[in-house]
Amino acid sequence: MEGAYLLRFITMKHTSNFRFAELDALLEALGVDPASAYDRAAARRDEKLAPEPCPYLVVRLASPEVAKALCEYGILLSHAIELWGSGTTHEECAVAVASYGEKRPHFFRPEASWRIDVDAYGTTIPLDEQNTIRAIYASALPFQGRVNLAAPTETFQIVDYSPSRRPTDPRVVYFGRTVGATTKRDLVRRCDLKKRVYLGPTALDNELALVMANVARCRPGAAALDPYAGTGSILVACALFGAHCFGADIDWRVLRGKARDENDGAMRRRGPDGRGASASELLRLDSDRKTIFANFRQYALSLPEIVRLDASRFFDYYRDRALSEFFDALVTDPPYGIRAGARCLGSRPQDTVKPVPDDMREDHVPRTKPYPVADVLADLLEIAARVLKLNGRLAYLLPSTHDFFPDRDVPKHPALELLDCCAQPISTKYSRYLVVMRKHRPCDQCLVAWFAGDAAPETRELIRATADAPYVRLKEKVFQRATANGHTRDVDNDADDDDDDDDDDDSAAR
Ligand SMILES: C[S@@+](CC[C@H](N)C(=O)[O-])C[C@H]1O[C@@H](n2cnc3c(N)ncnc32)[C@H](O)[C@@H]1O
Repeated sequence: MEGAYLLRFITMKHTSNFRFAELDALLEALGVDPASAYDRAAARRDEKLAPEPCPYLVVRLASPEVAKALCEYGILLSHAIELWGSGTTHEECAVAVASYGEKRPHFFRPEASWRIDVDAYGTTIPLDEQNTIRAIYASALPFQGRVNLAAPTETFQIVDYSPSRRPTDPRVVYFGRTVGATTKRDLVRRCDLKKRVYLGPTALDNELALVMANVARCRPGAAALDPYAGTGSILVACALFGAHCFGADIDWRVLRGKARDENDGAMRRRGPDGRGASASELLRLDSDRKTIFANFRQYALSLPEIVRLDASRFFDYYRDRALSEFFDALVTDPPYGIRAGARCLGSRPQDTVKPVPDDMREDHVPRTKPYPVADVLADLLEIAARVLKLNGRLAYLLPSTHDFFPDRDVPKHPALELLDCCAQPISTKYSRYLVVMRKHRPCDQCLVAWFAGDAAPETRELIRATADAPYVRLKEKVFQRATANGHTRDVDNDADDDDDDDDDDDSAAR
């Protein structure tokens, strides 16, 4: 029987803008059309008027079981209550609650124990006042069973929400029965970056990584790819949701990781002959190093497949259609040359290119050149369009200035449909956007272009059409600001400066 449910979100300022994106993904995973559950535009409008994001949302769902299942995978969604009444005062709300309860006598049978919690937001309710409020509802409902605080048959909840935080302003009160709570929020604490074995300067915040894995619908049995894996923080999040993970990165040093014992590091880094440890040596030493694998072992997760590759030539590494429609999710934080170096294989016109002697080919790390943002995005979309299954999700981060309009500025691809683009403000000038796309049609034409050796002309054209987009200019803006502040670092050389690793003899790898 369809009814109203009150959802409670976790109120963390830095991720609260992503809560509707997560909610929609959770609804869709249950086969519920988000538009039938709530009016997103209205929720956003209300939010703009409020001084801070509202942690509550009333939705319409088919049953308490759907509400329970919805919460289960929540990172930003905390719990759901079946709504029995609402009002501007507890007395007004209790009248509605009494008539709702009258029709549901089974909740009040003598053997059913109960408890009433109080959830106050934007206001503080002293304990004695909480008891007075509880008494209003307890007398409005025909409870026959006993109170059981530890393990009640039913838990009810009083919600007292003051949007303005001013005690004199109107508030909203709700009453309902708790029907579900997240079982995944604990992952945020469990995979705290402070305790992560292997970390780099661009390792993604654990909460955001988990939200991204959720919006991309990583679930047990799904296959997830991060082509810009770095230290694997996103892959860890995908794996914590049960996905099989595949990662890639161009930077050999990031993938090789760090020695646990720094004194022992030089030999491990360079190998016995001083020229870099071979793959088999690394494998042998792997369990002893801080690597992506060590991160997976830390959480007892199945190890991911990790490949060193240049995403700008992703399909050169795989035979024919090996990875076509293989992945359910592509979740990534691409390099934009600001925090993380964006490099691709090749040399700049001014570089002197020398042939590689035969005896050095095996360990040779090819030269790299700057990788323009428009190309990073064109390649990302093309990889997603090709490797995702139909209906698979792409979730990625895109930093930009605030003059960014998702419909206009998010790079487009004929095979991908934009589902969401939500901003996480980083400063007064910049935001980081979480872009969520769905593969809504097969991309055979793009494939034909790729195999003809002309990498994705259609995509590049679309991306270049937005070449003036705020994200493309972000790098220059950051650079201009840095120059104005007296920092004169060449942003194109970011890649050479960014890496945290202990090796400094193979800059060409970056
Ligand atoms: C923003 S960082 C990702 C950080 C990652 N989420 C983590 O947890 O460490 C971007 C990564 O892209 C890699 N990268 C840069 N250019 C690349 C390319 N052409 N192909 C593949 N990876 C590349 C960088 O080495 C860097 O590790």
